Amino acid sequence: MFDIPQRPRRNRKNFAIRKMIQENSVTPSDLIAPLFFIEGSNQKVGIDSMPGQFRYSIDKLVEEVLHLYSLGIPCVSIFPAVSEKFKNSQASESFNPDGLNQRAVAEIKNACPDMQVMTDIALDPYSSDGHDGLVDSKTGEILNDQTLEVLGKMAIAQAEAGTDIVGPSDMMDGRIGFIRSILDSEGFEKVSIMSYTAKYASSFYGPFRDALDSAPKNGDKKTYQMDYSNAREAQREAELDESEGADILMVKPGLAYLDIVRALREHTVLPVAAYNVSGEYAMVKAAAERGWIDGESVMVEMLTSFKRAGADMILTYFAKEMALKINS
Ligand code: PBG
Repeated sequence: MFDIPQRPRRNRKNFAIRKMIQENSVTPSDLIAPLFFIEGSNQKVGIDSMPGQFRYSIDKLVEEVLHLYSLGIPCVSIFPAVSEKFKNSQASESFNPDGLNQRAVAEIKNACPDMQVMTDIALDPYSSDGHDGLVDSKTGEILNDQTLEVLGKMAIAQAEAGTDIVGPSDMMDGRIGFIRSILDSEGFEKVSIMSYTAKYASSFYGPFRDALDSAPKNGDKKTYQMDYSNAREAQREAELDESEGADILMVKPGLAYLDIVRALREHTVLPVAAYNVSGEYAMVKAAAERGWIDGESVMVEMLTSFKRAGADMILTYFAKEMALKINS
């Protein structure tokens, strides 16, 4: 044994060496941009709790999508802000073939055919109860199997409009298998499923619920979204989603859940996505506005940490800002 002094700093001695040994980095093709939209035309309405994010009318949404595509972002995840008059207890607007969401999908695919459009499957934007599933009017219980029927109709309406990827975010049991088989039986075997596999009941979703005005009217989402104290449960959900036919597994929220991203990465050969959610975005923006942190470098550090944890792709409200930064 030679007594060689260990000097790990040699691998950090200058920018070139640091770049050469860099293990992880973020490219625009890793990014999925969530976008909010509304009825009307020529609208771009700011969201107070999410500086830099907007609710777009479909015409403006399409412009934004074209811009994102030009930056190398391959996918957008779209969320309709549905007006109160279209909400009811059955969330029937969710599968209206002419509804806002379906029109947006068709317009985006028409203007930018290569952009991958991901659509959300859950009842909350359309439900007068603000829950992801149907609510039993007597007990307040979230009804699992009855909800699956509605989710299936949503999947078909979105597929008919031309969606590339459906993203079930509702956390009902058995939904991946149910949606996969209904899509296949209607001839939509090419539509992918990115499952919100490990979706936790989280206070980090606050700004998103402001953006869509979709907070639950009664109770919370703890009987379907997961308890943040638990990790093994995520593996159980992953096994189920995989066996039911999911193409991509997602962890949500992201930042406080990087251990779950790592666990799923080690547990599955499927691609793993992480959702850097609205509250994580708002925290960075708020602190940066006060000059308490350097928002841009925190953004890059945060998104790189998702890659380091094992995520193949990241849904993030920073998608455009990050792509601009990478391309600059
Ligand atoms: C609803 C849904 C939520 C988010 C994505 N889909 C909110 C919720 O479950 O209440 C949150 C995304 C974010 O906070 O950025 N099915």
